[in-house]
Amino acid sequence: MRVFVAGATGAIGKQLVPRLVEAGHEVHGMTRRESKKALLDELGAVPVVADALDPDQVAEAVGRARPDVIVHQLTALAGVDIRHPERGVAMTNRVRTEGTDHLLSAGQAVGVRRFVAQSIGMGLYVRTGGPVKSEEDPLDPTPPRKLREGAAGIRHLEQAVLDARWTEGIVLRYGAFYGPGTHLAPGGELSEMIRKRRFPLVGDGGGVWSFIHVADAAEATVAAVEHGARGVYNVVDDDPAPVAEWLPALAQKLGAKKPIRVPRFIVRLFAGEAGVVMMTDVRGASNAKAKRELGWRPAYPSWRQGFAAA
Ligand SMILES: NC(=O)c1ccc[n+]([C@@H]2O[C@H](COP(=O)([O-])OP(=O)(O)OC[C@H]3O[C@@H](n4cnc5c(N)ncnc54)[C@H](OP(=O)(O)O)[C@@H]3O)[C@@H](O)[C@H]2O)c1
Repeated sequence: MRVFVAGATGAIGKQLVPRLVEAGHEVHGMTRRESKKALLDELGAVPVVADALDPDQVAEAVGRARPDVIVHQLTALAGVDIRHPERGVAMTNRVRTEGTDHLLSAGQAVGVRRFVAQSIGMGLYVRTGGPVKSEEDPLDPTPPRKLREGAAGIRHLEQAVLDARWTEGIVLRYGAFYGPGTHLAPGGELSEMIRKRRFPLVGDGGGVWSFIHVADAAEATVAAVEHGARGVYNVVDDDPAPVAEWLPALAQKLGAKKPIRVPRFIVRLFAGEAGVVMMTDVRGASNAKAKRELGWRPAYPSWRQGFAAA
């Protein structure tokens, strides 16, 4: 198939493009920058320079590639301060709203068979009931203030993709990424915070996180490109775990001292409710549907082995 990847140069894009090429697909990889054409060439893609926020550029790029499938991996999360996600969310929201709409219009004009888009499972699901959620579970109706804008952008993206009845609209709710190029890579922003003991264990650390190695996320995406059906898939590992378990384990792996413990009210005071919710109240996600329907299995079924290998 001919596959158009928007976000081909990002953490997930770099893993995805070579895998699509290896599987025999002709990949067209989009970037805003002429300077990244060589990287795309190396990854095996036909480089395409276009800005996702410019509808004409997107229409022209997609029109020229005439893809069978579009994959939307656009974010602007690199460099966002994790302690203040709301400050960096505006640009990512633009690529998740305007960017999605432009890619969908361009895809409709050439009649793409599938449209696969990146969403996030982390912190999206309702915070009542059991610790692990399936795609059938409702989304959080009341995200904390600092996460509200980001959640609205994700909802727009998901709704637009799932409402596109002229194509197989597929939403992949990835777990928290780790592996090369991510915040959790050695030297990455989050790893550094943990190493310097600036990422504390809040309250009981009962918030459940679902992780995924970016290579496994890319493998699931290839499966979705090739035979996904309209709908949502959680793309996470087999081992959703509370912060109280994974944070000390990761600190140890990074050679850091144990994370400091901070009561909820202190975090609420200095970082706001979002920090408390992410550390004590979010729910994890189940990958049962992705395994069943995409025939996918993560090579790192648990972050316990994955962190050590990454
Ligand atoms: N589930 C998760 O945990 C999750 C999800 C997403 C990201 N993250 C984290 O965020 C960090 C960055 O991840 P990432 O690789 O997704 O981000 P990134 O490195 O910023 O890559 C984003 C991609 O989107 C493209 N892009 C952004 N705005 C664009 C625009 N207006 N027009 C065209 N292309 C545009 C970039 O292309 P050019 O720059 O080449 O133009 C790039 O290919 C990582 O640390 C990762 O761990 C985590």
